[in-house]
Amino acid sequence: MNLHTPLCDLLNIKYPILQAGMGWDKEGLTTPPALVAAVSNAGGLGCIGGSSIRPEVIRERIRAVRQLTDKPFGVDITLPKMEDVRIADPDEVKKEIEEKYPKHAKFNDELIPRLGLTPQPPDRKSWVKTPAATREQLKVILEENVPILIIGLGDTAEVVPLAHARGIKVMALAGAVKHALSHARKGVDVIIAQGYEAGGHTGTIGNFPLIPQIVDAVRPKPVVAAGGISDGRGVAAALALGAVGVWCGTTFLVTREGGINPVYKKQIYNGTSEDFVRTAYTSGHFARHYRSDVIKAWMGSGLDAMPTPYQGNAMDEVRRAAEVANRVELLHVPGGQVAGMLSEERNNVPAKEIVERMVTEASQILNDMRSLYVGA
Ligand SMILES: Cc1cc2nc3c(=O)[nH]c(=O)nc-3n(C[C@H](O)[C@H](O)[C@H](O)COP(=O)(O)O)c2cc1C
Repeated sequence: MNLHTPLCDLLNIKYPILQAGMGWDKEGLTTPPALVAAVSNAGGLGCIGGSSIRPEVIRERIRAVRQLTDKPFGVDITLPKMEDVRIADPDEVKKEIEEKYPKHAKFNDELIPRLGLTPQPPDRKSWVKTPAATREQLKVILEENVPILIIGLGDTAEVVPLAHARGIKVMALAGAVKHALSHARKGVDVIIAQGYEAGGHTGTIGNFPLIPQIVDAVRPKPVVAAGGISDGRGVAAALALGAVGVWCGTTFLVTREGGINPVYKKQIYNGTSEDFVRTAYTSGHFARHYRSDVIKAWMGSGLDAMPTPYQGNAMDEVRRAAEVANRVELLHVPGGQVAGMLSEERNNVPAKEIVERMVTEASQILNDMRSLYVGA
């Protein structure tokens, strides 16, 4: 069985199966080098999720991946708007929340003890993704001459010429046609069209209408489909919609090499699609994650998210209290609706096997459809 699209030639990979960069934890454990290398060695494209990790850790991770594979791989980062990044004193922010958003302050004050947690002081040592730190992340990735750079969020205008000057290909995510067109105009090489069903930050349009619209809008630029894909059926559907590859996150989280806590893996493989909900609770921007008891309380509160930086700070208060109590189940891992398709059978399956299953199944489906429905 084989599956070859123009994306394979462009990225110099065997199969058009891409493991999405996931940067949710500060250690980069969502995409450890072992996972990235396993996917690349299997013929797909592994990707380091660099968005929330320190520049020096990104460098270590890139070098660690290079020890494990000589195949192409990517690094994903986000480039948030500068004005969205306000580094405020957490005590000041808390005071402002109490004054301006008393209902939100009350929500936290009641929720923390209700969950059996104890309030904790702010974590002042934690690394913060400031504009300067983001520039440093980018500098490291360019210096390391990684084969492929993926921009998960933000403006690609400045980054494309810098990357191209070093021979680095650029891919960028889009949840709407206008974002795809903007990336295309700026010279991005591959557009990743990501639908509503995806894990992490995501838009409002489902993949069935989104992918063909983006394919048409940016033609002849290649488009990769993201969100909700975990097997060969998803791959075949993405190709039918005009995409030339797939970008899968949640699916690879539960693989043997996926470095996440077993509690999160269990939430994914025991969870239904309805258990992965899209809220603005964590940052003020909509993202899809597990419906933990914290998220259930938030959804039941009827509150709207506060603007940056208030919402992130308020969420952090609950997160710290849960972390100190080692209540991992309250930390609501990002994940997509595809979790409903991932049963315990998928737990700790080697990433290589997932890539191979996707390829075999997709090529089988494509062959079968031709003989069943077209060739007769
Ligand atoms: C745990 C997790 C963390 C993620 N972190 C990031 C991130 O840091 N930057 C980013 O651009 N996308 C991030 N994403 C989105 C993925 O890169 C990818 O677009 C998404 O997982 C695709 O949808 P799927 O989960 O349905 O496969 C994350 C997704 C998950 C599940």
